[in-house]
Amino acid sequence: MTETASDNTTSVKSMDDIMALCKRRGFIYQASEIYGGVNGFWDYGPLGAQLKKNLRDAWWTDVVMKGCNGKLGPDGKPVSIVPLDSSIIQNPKVWEASGHVGGFNDPMVDCRETKSRYRADHILCMGVKGDDSGQIYAFIENDDKSFDGALKKLSKYKKADIAKDGVDICSFTDLGPDEIAITVGPDAKEVGTLTEPRAFNLMFKTVLGATGNAEDNGAYLRPETAQGIFINFKNVVDTTRVSVPFGIAQTGKAFRNEVTPRNFTFRSREFEQMEIEFFCHPDESKAWYTFWRDWRMAWWQELGLEGENLILREHDNDELAHYAKEGAGTADIEYMFPFTAPGYGELEGIADRTNFDLKQHAEHSKTKLDYFDNTRGELAKNGQPKGERYLPHVIEPSAGLDRGVLALLCEAYTPDENRPSGVFMKFHPRIAPIKAAVFPLVKKDGMPEIAEPLYNELRNRFGHLGTIEYDVKQSIGKRYARMDEAGCPFCFTIDSTTLEDQTVTVRHRDTLDQERIAIDKVGDFLAEKLGF
Ligand code: GAP
Repeated sequence: MTETASDNTTSVKSMDDIMALCKRRGFIYQASEIYGGVNGFWDYGPLGAQLKKNLRDAWWTDVVMKGCNGKLGPDGKPVSIVPLDSSIIQNPKVWEASGHVGGFNDPMVDCRETKSRYRADHILCMGVKGDDSGQIYAFIENDDKSFDGALKKLSKYKKADIAKDGVDICSFTDLGPDEIAITVGPDAKEVGTLTEPRAFNLMFKTVLGATGNAEDNGAYLRPETAQGIFINFKNVVDTTRVSVPFGIAQTGKAFRNEVTPRNFTFRSREFEQMEIEFFCHPDESKAWYTFWRDWRMAWWQELGLEGENLILREHDNDELAHYAKEGAGTADIEYMFPFTAPGYGELEGIADRTNFDLKQHAEHSKTKLDYFDNTRGELAKNGQPKGERYLPHVIEPSAGLDRGVLALLCEAYTPDENRPSGVFMKFHPRIAPIKAAVFPLVKKDGMPEIAEPLYNELRNRFGHLGTIEYDVKQSIGKRYARMDEAGCPFCFTIDSTTLEDQTVTVRHRDTLDQERIAIDKVGDFLAEKLGF
């Protein structure tokens, strides 16, 4: 048995190595690669597409179909959730009401020399200590390379050596424009090339119809799936049997024209979200917020994101989004990606959005969106509640599917110098894109004739959960190595002993243990291991 790496914190893993494996094994490719790529867009290869589907399916099953896996809500009742699939393009008024037309902006700065564009909140500034000129110098990206580069440029400009500990650092966005006297762009040769921050709307625009113009027929690609849910609240209440408290859930693409897409798929311009809008009485919003925050954290942990790589972080009041009221909860579930380590990056946000969105849409659309709750209100003479009319409050657990996949890839990546592949992907079997592989040891002696029916049997029984691999080419060692990099938890090998006693070798990915089981028990073995 081989020892596996014991320190599985992502801080010790290399993002370049993980990206190389993703390309090599067909998890993720650069979009439009043969044309030189397109910044901020990614394509999922055969393994990546299945991994992404498995994560989406796990969310859908556990959240929507099983209502939080059967966990009772704070009211002691089963959690009620219904699905939705709303359109990517909606009436542009939706985005005016939601605040996205007016407020979905990132401050950006341009570099006059290199023509590069950066997000102002990604720029750090340094002021030279003891420099009574009050000048502040801006440079970019929070990493040692750009810091050292900026120091060098400044030293040249000031005609004096400036030491690392001789500067104060703060965020570009914390400074007034007149405080920034001299700036240093990351790729610029000269100092003073960065412009002041300007607001940049992140929504992608398009034009509807063949004869349309941007003024009259402009529309937006949705920047979040959430608004599709809010504008269908009344439809769902009127056409189904739901009653508050209940949730509406949907998965789907969202588009944001990010100023600086980066860190692999972490910040992309096209990505997929998994969002729940959970509608409840205002008095119960705190209890539902706590319920969802804790259950969502436990859900990611069950899929294998554990230990110090995953944290739950409550927001400070100064971080609250425009829709969140002070005192109403907002928390992030954050993962320590190799490129954020020792810090964390957001995987999912859980926010008490109050009644902000329903109120906005009610006002802008002039449609009543309040809810009549016949279980509340004073008691009438007949002893029944008179009912209460209110705008429900909303708890929103909003997760990024692509970020979830990225976190699972980073978590699974396990260097192991004792294996031929040097690394294996330790996916939770539920998420693993390949569930099992069937290998005839050699392509002769009747082995393929035994392996093929087994492959067919497993494919029929487990194909809805993921791929069953069949491979006869190359040495068995090379085939195992390929499966290690794909994260396949079990390989079944048909060898000469199979011909004698109808048993096969099972190879366990994580421990490298091998055991023999009867060929007619392989299906049940796999069912048990996959939890079905
Ligand atoms: N409806 C609320 C909302 O959209 P958000 O924090 O802007 O909130 C929710 O987005 C999740 O979507 C994030 O936690 C993140 O996982 C994912 N996400 C947001 N922007 C993204 C981007 N540019 N690329 C990839 N994922 C992104």
